[in-house]
Amino acid sequence: MTSTITPDRGAAVAFSVEEQQFNDLIEADSRIEPRDWMPEGYRRSLVRQISQHAHSEIIGMQPESNWITRAPSLKRKAILMAKVQDEAGHGLYLYSAAQTLGATRDDMTDALIAGKARYSSIFNYPTPSWADMGSIGWLVDGAAICNQVPLCRASYGPYGRAMVRICKEESFHQRQGFEILLELMQGTAEQRQMAQDSVDRWYWPALMMFGPPDDDSPNSAQSMAWKIKRHSNDELRQRFVNMLVPQAAVLGVTLPDSDLHFNEETQQWDLGEIDWTEFHEVLAGRGANNAQRLQRRRDAHEEGRWVREAAAAYASKQTARKESTLTTELETAAS
Ligand SMILES: [Fe+2]
Ligand SMILES: [Fe+2]
Repeated sequence: MTSTITPDRGAAVAFSVEEQQFNDLIEADSRIEPRDWMPEGYRRSLVRQISQHAHSEIIGMQPESNWITRAPSLKRKAILMAKVQDEAGHGLYLYSAAQTLGATRDDMTDALIAGKARYSSIFNYPTPSWADMGSIGWLVDGAAICNQVPLCRASYGPYGRAMVRICKEESFHQRQGFEILLELMQGTAEQRQMAQDSVDRWYWPALMMFGPPDDDSPNSAQSMAWKIKRHSNDELRQRFVNMLVPQAAVLGVTLPDSDLHFNEETQQWDLGEIDWTEFHEVLAGRGANNAQRLQRRRDAHEEGRWVREAAAAYASKQTARKESTLTTELETAAS
């Protein structure tokens, strides 16, 4: 069965009833749920985006877990542990959201450890100083918030709902990062230098987290038409910089962009050129820590094998026990 609608551009296009329902839901800003029909391209694009996002949360635990044993105080250690644990939780919500689209956890994990799946290239940068815990929270989690708040309204229900909870936790992450930097900036000259050096290293990679410029972002238009994505990469990057400038002033750090200036006409902060060659190098697996991050993930997967096997053995024992109880009950009822 087909119905015919006339889109804006004039020519009549025939859609199946299911496709028309899908288009209507998107048009009405309503939500697509796992039970609803959806175009294959929409499903594939969501699986790609959500699984990449999940992998980023999981790999993103590594640069910070590097500092758990060396945090400068018990309080900092407890906060950092909670934060890294939150990231594991974010990975789990997102893997679950991808599973509602038919992706399996095993396939997603295999793709990650085989080096076939992408994750955010920001996590391939090293964390040589304690101040990096501040910069990651302030800049990396800060960029994540700018990217993710609009995703709370993503057209796919399970993804949008996962993002609501994730965003609440991300704002705690950003504040704890800001507070680490603030404390260092109020400390000795050496501590201030450590904070500034860290901001210098993380600022540009954080801006690259929004993805390539709009005219070089092939999937963006379709993703926006499907209302998965709500704003362009450059628009979100601009919002982020506008948010950072006053915060950097409170901290007393300098953002490492000598071309950064306030544009009276647009009332926005104009930024200097981004070095996209570096972005593509890191994306292609040639970042400082790419190989190490993947190896660590592979080792962790291997080390966890016995846990997965034990959990599977326990689950099948429980199922067998339930089945035999049910058989006994049925036999008793029948006699
Ligand atoms: Fe996260
Ligand atoms: Fe976070």
